[in-house]
Formats: sequence, C-alpha cells, structure tokens
Amino acid sequence: MQVARTRPELASARSGLSGAVGLVPTMGALHAGHEALIGEAVRRCSAVVVSIFVNPLQFGPDEDLDRYPRTLDDDLARCESAAVDVVWVPEVEDVYPDGPARVRIDPGPLGRELEGASRPGHFSGSLTVVAKLLNQVGPHTAVFGEKDYQQLVLVRRMVRDLDLPVDVASVSTVREPGGLALSSRNRYLTEDERERASSLWRALSAGRAAAGTGQAAVLTAAQAALAGVEVEYLELRAPDLGAAPPSGPARLLVAARIGVTRLIDNVAVDL
Ligand code: PAF
Repeated sequence: MQVARTRPELASARSGLSGAVGLVPTMGALHAGHEALIGEAVRRCSAVVVSIFVNPLQFGPDEDLDRYPRTLDDDLARCESAAVDVVWVPEVEDVYPDGPARVRIDPGPLGRELEGASRPGHFSGSLTVVAKLLNQVGPHTAVFGEKDYQQLVLVRRMVRDLDLPVDVASVSTVREPGGLALSSRNRYLTEDERERASSLWRALSAGRAAAGTGQAAVLTAAQAALAGVEVEYLELRAPDLGAAPPSGPARLLVAARIGVTRLIDNVAVDL
C-alpha cells in the first residue's frame, strides 16, 4: 500500500494502477462502515484509492471542524488490512492551494433542504471537494454510504448534471448491535447519550413497521419512539428526496442533537 501525501506522490501512485480504479472518499476516523465501502470498491474494481481529508469547506463556523476525530495511524492500518492500494492524505494546502475554493459546486434546491437547512453551505462544500477528489484521482467508480443519504443523492445528481465520467456505487449503513448507525461522530457520545442515540434507529424501525398504513402513520410511529434527543427533522421523502409518494418506495430521514452531538440516520420504507 502506498501513502501519497502530495499531488506529485498521488500522480505517481495513480499512474501505477491499472484496470478499473475505485475511490472511497473519507474524512478519516475510519470504522466498519468505511470498511464496507472499501470492500465494495475492492469487489467492483481492480485497484482502490481511499482519500482521507477533513474538508474545511463543508463545516459551518460553529461546527466540529477542530475537534473532528483524526486517527491517521489507525486509519492506515485499517486500509492496509482492507487491501487498499493507495491512500491519498492531502493537507489543506494541497487541496486548496489558493485558499478556500472561490468557484464551488451549487447543489441546487435540494442542497438547502433537510441537512442543508440546518447546515448552510454544507453540500456546496462537500460536493466541491468530491468533484476535486474525482478529478485528482480519476476513478472509474466512487463509493458512498447510504448513512449520508442526502449526500449520496446529491453526488449522483452532480455526476448526472455535470456529465462526470464516474460510476457512483452505494453501500447500506452499517449498524451497532443496538441499531445505532456507525459514524465517526459516535465517539463524541457518552454512555448515556449513546443509549439515547439508539432511539433514532428505534424510530426509523417503528416508522418502517408502520409503512403500508400511510404517511401520517409512519411519521407518528417514528415520532413516538424518539426519546431523549432534540429532533431537528423527521421527514418522509421520495427515494430521490423529492416529495414523498402516497405509496411505493420512500425514505424516512431523521436528524437529532444528543448533547453537543448531531446525528443523522435514514431508512428505506415501502409506503
Ligand atoms: O462523507 C464524507 O465523509 C464526506 O462528506 C466526503 C464525501 C468524504 C467529502 O468530504
């Protein structure tokens, strides 16, 4: 496994990869959820690049950029045992040599809803860095998790709207035994908060179990299972995050604060 820390090192490592290349973009603090993304890239491609970059552009001024977990040694060990070929670990200056990018991706109307309503500018920042990473690495396939469902939908939209030459693959959310979705931010939680956080999954499961009895019933069942958390949104949408259909496939999404930590989760439901 090669670790590229500069653009020339990346170019040289990339030129040694043949066949279909898969990219797994991450912000590090890797866990079993990321390992599932890497596994999918390994399955689909003949070589895999993982990027590790905590992207300042996608954090708001009051968000957790400074305390976002950075665990590079552990991340590299996980990449090594997951058969990754190249790990791309740029510094902020390698990604934004002229300071924060002035030309950025506009995520469109969906970028201002759900997560975008709580986190103005977030999707412009994440799509901009994803576009840059795709250009830097030149993968055939890029793999994203369903845990950040709105990001996945917007990446697919960007790739389609801008004719980016890459296939987007997705992987279902990996969960703890109690259902809590794996997230690098879970390590902020105390034991008591972790227990409260698992009510997100209980709510999504209750909503899913009520599917078939109508939109209102799904939302009521999910709402009733949310306890000890400060809900930011609980919404039913279409799979592409347009308005929820009266019946058929849909997505139930939740965001909540538990203490100082903000968590999101979602599940597919069949209305
Ligand atoms: O999902 C993430 O970890 C990030 O938003 C991504 C896609 C790596 C862009 O910084």
